[in-house]
Amino acid sequence: MHYLEPLFNPESVAIVGASHHEGKIGHTVVKNILESGYKGRIYPINPKGGEILGLKVYKSIFEIDDEIDVAIIVVPAKVAVEIIDDVAKKAKFIIVITSGFSEVGNIEGEKKIVETAKKYGSRVLGPNVFGIYSAKPPINATFGPSKIKAGNVAVVSQSGALGIAMIGKAAEENMGLSAIVSIGNKADLTEVEILSYLFEDEITKVVFLYIEGLENGRDFLDIIRKRPPGKSIIVLKAGRSKAGARAVASHTGSLAGSDAIFDAAFRQVGILRAESLEDGLNWVTTVALSPPPKGKNVVIVTNGGGLGVIAADACEKYGLHLLDDMEVLKKTFQDVMPEFGSYKNPVDITGQAGGKEYKVALERAFKEKSIHAILALYCDRGDAEIEEIKNALVEVHKKYRNKPALYTIFGGEGATSIITALKKEGLPAFSDVEDAVSSLYALYKVNERKDEGKMEEVKMDEDKIKQVIEKALKEKRRKLLSNEAKEILKAAGVDVPEFYVAKNIEEAIEAANKIGYPIVMKVISEDIIHKTDVGGVVLNIENEKEAAEAYEAIIESCKRNVPKARIRGVEVTKMLPKGVETIVGSTTDPSFGKVVMFGLGGIYVEVMKDVTFRVAPLPKKEIRRMIREIESYPILAGVRGEKGKDIEAIVDTIYRIGLLVTKFEEIMELDINPLIVYEKGAKVADARMSIKVRK
Ligand code: COA
Repeated sequence: MHYLEPLFNPESVAIVGASHHEGKIGHTVVKNILESGYKGRIYPINPKGGEILGLKVYKSIFEIDDEIDVAIIVVPAKVAVEIIDDVAKKAKFIIVITSGFSEVGNIEGEKKIVETAKKYGSRVLGPNVFGIYSAKPPINATFGPSKIKAGNVAVVSQSGALGIAMIGKAAEENMGLSAIVSIGNKADLTEVEILSYLFEDEITKVVFLYIEGLENGRDFLDIIRKRPPGKSIIVLKAGRSKAGARAVASHTGSLAGSDAIFDAAFRQVGILRAESLEDGLNWVTTVALSPPPKGKNVVIVTNGGGLGVIAADACEKYGLHLLDDMEVLKKTFQDVMPEFGSYKNPVDITGQAGGKEYKVALERAFKEKSIHAILALYCDRGDAEIEEIKNALVEVHKKYRNKPALYTIFGGEGATSIITALKKEGLPAFSDVEDAVSSLYALYKVNERKDEGKMEEVKMDEDKIKQVIEKALKEKRRKLLSNEAKEILKAAGVDVPEFYVAKNIEEAIEAANKIGYPIVMKVISEDIIHKTDVGGVVLNIENEKEAAEAYEAIIESCKRNVPKARIRGVEVTKMLPKGVETIVGSTTDPSFGKVVMFGLGGIYVEVMKDVTFRVAPLPKKEIRRMIREIESYPILAGVRGEKGKDIEAIVDTIYRIGLLVTKFEEIMELDINPLIVYEKGAKVADARMSIKVRK
């Protein structure tokens, strides 16, 4: 039994602050519990005693001679804090409906609630929630609408108002709910634990989650990964706007708006993210009502060519596959339509088609094994066929139900009445064809299982990495010197071309001769960020004489331009030949922790921000997907007769970076910019790294 079972299926509930006055939240909760047909024991608590809705009112929680699975607190915040100790002594779960806690800055009050509960081993839902509905007992312990239809959709919402509105909307859509949980301030129980219950619970088929943020992003991803087959989730995450101005020292950091990371993390584990409430609802309803498709072949049946074409275009946009086996289409549909109809997909049974024709055509589609999903479209002709059409669709659908069938009815009043009737019968019906197609896409997506691949062992010189980090930590340097960053990358097994640190001309010449020309020299200083701008970089050094001149020029120019800079020496390294410049980076996200980034360098990253993220570490299989996601991918794959670049070398680099930043959590940000990629191999030309300084 899941440890949250008593919360979702309580044997007894107490309402602390049950009110004698109709209209007050403390009254509505009692009324809803009663009206939901709850069969467990109900204990209203109010110091005034008496009776509420025929139930005996207890003056104190200690008067109740029973165990309490769930206590619902509906007294003002100040009182809630005063009584929490008593409540926590008695109740396993405490739902704090009361507002006025951390959401208005009352952090202390919220802390007191959670800590007191913890002391007695109780758990808290909320505060600032509208309660909980659970179809199993059933119990409606919310102050929302009293009538809730039981079904297989669970709604978990961080926003209270939205959650309550969802109850109303679900009723309008005739969508049955298995649970509706408000998580509010998430002071103790979060969406992660709630999901772990809902994924185990036998009634719930699909969860619709509304969140604004996540604190424990990794636990969330894990719970999604581990969900049993047949359980789906659709997430509406608000706050598409960019993360506020964060103090970031790297490219990766500045590109990592929190929403970009959310998007990437969701993609990584295969979570379907709805862009709007409307999409979310359409998708959830469709998933709740439809069996999973057994194959990719979609067939469109329509009485209007135009609507069919619009549907076909939308299918293309969403990557849905229209059945194109002409023999099957001909055999299935040819004799259902007049001569001027078309059995090509979209199957146009023509404007003449009435209930009878729809019935036959759909029956054929349901029966044909190589058809896996049906989009049935009907343009309302404004005549008397409404009843026949309605009956035909409902009858056939109910008879078969063996594959997903989604309906679009377009037109005026008649269309609306058909849609209402179809919804009432539990058929996914839409007025807009795009909504139907996007919902079918969602149905395919939620039933896909994502295989991210497996992690592999790689060798790293961990002692060396530790040593470099420790040295910087001792000196309280947040930014590593470029040679230190390179040393760490080299120790992590990333391909860093040979480099030396020269402290004088002789050392510079010796290093250059060892490496072989052409070489590059760069100033090493934590105080100089834009080295080129201050004359800190000399490229294409061809011989000893030029090497000596370059060294002197760099030192002189940097001292002149940035007089206070600490100059640690000059890095001498090979001048790399031209290749495709890419950027590989990592940053630390507040929700998901270490993430990795990839993109093409130059304008692709600077102007087009054509980059992609993943939560680190991640297997190579997922890294390959990640790389293919960028718009400029064809440049790597090879364009206009050019040979493709060594993508596996990039994969290996990102893989190692993912492991490096998770093994060495001190690394807060990292940029390899550029990582130059060739037909064979990928080499680090420049790198930056910053670490978390110990206090
Ligand atoms: N134990 C039990 N009951 C007590 C009590 C105690 N120690 N002290 C007072 N009460 C009783 C009151 O007498 C009252 O009952 P009555 O109406 O029969 O007199 C009842 O508890 C409620 O107290 P009251 O002071 O009238 O509060 P309220 O009903 O005006 O407001 C809340 C209480 C919880 C509804 C309010 O503080 C609140 O937070 N509202 C917002 C809720 C919300 O929106 N949540 C988030 C949704 S997403």
